Amino acid sequence: MPKKTTVCTAIPYVNSVPHIGNILTDLCGDVTARYFRMRGDDVFFQVGTDENGLKIKEAAEKEGRDPHEFVAEITGRFKSIFVATRISYDDFIRTTDPRHIKASQALFSKLEENGHVFLGVYEGWYDVSTETFFREEDLVDGKSPDGNEVRWVSEENYFFRLSSFGDQLLAHIEANPNFIVPSNRKNEVISFIKQGLRDISITRKNPGWGIQVPGREDLVIYVWFDALINYIASAGWPDAGWEKKWPAKVQWVGKDILVRFHATLWPAMLLGIGLPLFETVAAHGWVLLGGEKISKSKGQVVRPLELAEEFSAKAGISQDLAVDVLRHYLTATMSMEGDSSFTYEDFDQRYNSDLANDLGNALNRTLSMAHKFVGGVVPDADVEAEAVVAIQRAKDSFVAAMVEYQIPKANEAAMGLVRFLNKYIDTRAPWALAKNSDPALSSVLRSMLLTIRAAEGLMRTFIPIGADAVSAQLNVSPTTHWDQIGSVDSLPVGTQLNQPQPIFPRLDLNKKMENQETPAPAPKPIEPKPQPVAAKEVVTSQITIEDFMKVDLRVARVIEAEPAEGSDKLLKLQLDVLGEKRQVVAGIKANYDPIDLIGRQVVMVFNLKPAKLRGIESQGMLLAAVDGAGGAILLQPEKETPEGAKVR
Ligand code: MSP
Repeated sequence: MPKKTTVCTAIPYVNSVPHIGNILTDLCGDVTARYFRMRGDDVFFQVGTDENGLKIKEAAEKEGRDPHEFVAEITGRFKSIFVATRISYDDFIRTTDPRHIKASQALFSKLEENGHVFLGVYEGWYDVSTETFFREEDLVDGKSPDGNEVRWVSEENYFFRLSSFGDQLLAHIEANPNFIVPSNRKNEVISFIKQGLRDISITRKNPGWGIQVPGREDLVIYVWFDALINYIASAGWPDAGWEKKWPAKVQWVGKDILVRFHATLWPAMLLGIGLPLFETVAAHGWVLLGGEKISKSKGQVVRPLELAEEFSAKAGISQDLAVDVLRHYLTATMSMEGDSSFTYEDFDQRYNSDLANDLGNALNRTLSMAHKFVGGVVPDADVEAEAVVAIQRAKDSFVAAMVEYQIPKANEAAMGLVRFLNKYIDTRAPWALAKNSDPALSSVLRSMLLTIRAAEGLMRTFIPIGADAVSAQLNVSPTTHWDQIGSVDSLPVGTQLNQPQPIFPRLDLNKKMENQETPAPAPKPIEPKPQPVAAKEVVTSQITIEDFMKVDLRVARVIEAEPAEGSDKLLKLQLDVLGEKRQVVAGIKANYDPIDLIGRQVVMVFNLKPAKLRGIESQGMLLAAVDGAGGAILLQPEKETPEGAKVR
């Protein structure tokens, strides 16, 4: 039977609507599933919800709701959030599904049959918030190690002989270096197991909610024990055909549920019934908000769709693209080894630097120059070795990252290729090649086009909608297969390219900065200096810093330049600035050939009232020094600077 590549994700509790931390586990699963699909695998991607806990029942009761109705509603919300955030799942399993109940009871009975379950008296402290038992010595100031309230439980329960699986688990971890990633988490698991595993109570007194223990109406299966079974229930176990989808290639979890549950209890359960173990469990760090784990129970949350909606209005992009921004942000900033912190400022800045600037410039410059210099058609020329190598390196780094499920490194590999492209354009300077009629021009343009096409393929796993927009501007279908990335056939010679359109327009962060209470710097006293003789002629009345600040000076990039009709002094320029195209008419023809200006950065007065020069609208003014002959020498930032950067 052909095997599926199964990708699993920890299933969230449905005691409340999801936040961006819950989404992270599913997002990591989604990026992984999309990546394996591109590699040509037949992927089976499971997601779902964990619905049987006491915590869920109590959450429903608190709202005076019937638990069935309550979980159905919250699960519905999870589902619609997964759809809206483009979590491309194949199966959504609920632990209240009959198939899950059947698998849970079957696994319980099988373990019992195999002698791994015994009846005993359980006494201990129970933390409902994490559905975990603790010993007296584990408590800190009468609370769980996480600071949650605990309650005393003493009842007759079934136990699982977890203690007898320690050596087998250690041997498996040692023999399979990729069984637990990242390695710092693996070390935590090893030391936890080496301290000695304790048998674990796997049933509870029936509170009228949960999966009944086979043959014991008075008991239900402990919620963690049943929840873990969802992975094989989703694959179809114990019914025929499950072997096609199991063992899973990778299971995604957050670091909080790795050591006790996914790296010890779960594999021990599988060993106990003789099923093969999943290949890898990958644990990601937490997303912190205000220095703390985002937590539904602590009420500190950022919800994914609300965030996307707000951002879509702020940036003037569709809700779908705003979801991409969130997907990019989370996967770029997340940490596998540690935690990451969410802030709104960081979110905006990351958007501007990665998507508006780096990706936006690379695409816009590539397409503008292709239109300017080769009529907007992919030229028939070789791709330069530099670009071939850069694409191959980016692919290799992506693959190497994904072997260890290092999602942020894979994201960096994709973004790195975009940044390479911007540097390549700067150093190969197609405008200079055009001016000198250098035959390398076509190759450089072909290389730029192939690189942006390859970046579209690599970024697709993170920003599927943004990637669609890139391929649409290149006038080719979306990349579907890994081998297309970097292949010259992925963007055939002769393809008629579309005009560049900003996909992620730049956000004006300065507006916010003006609102912040940072006082404007006091003007420095000017040191008296010997005045050049000519200064007398140019002394003008003094202005205050406030006057000066009224002039909004910005860095812009020339994307098109041509002589202004009917004038022997003026050039008509199209500038890229703050995500928009501005037309400026400048009296610089005496000193500049239009072709020299394309691709070059300039400084402009951004808030100048539009005016007509020789009947052509000019929406700003360029800064230039005046040379001895009264001609203009354009000012340019000393280093490449993001378009739209403020000048003062
Ligand atoms: N129901 C259990 C998992 C059972 S799997 C058999 C559970 N649910 S949860 O809702 O608390 O968490 C669901 C996922 O979200 C987990 O992978 C968890 O680690 C992750 N996160 C929840 N809050 C998080 C952050 N603030 N940051 C990152 N991920 C965290 O645990």
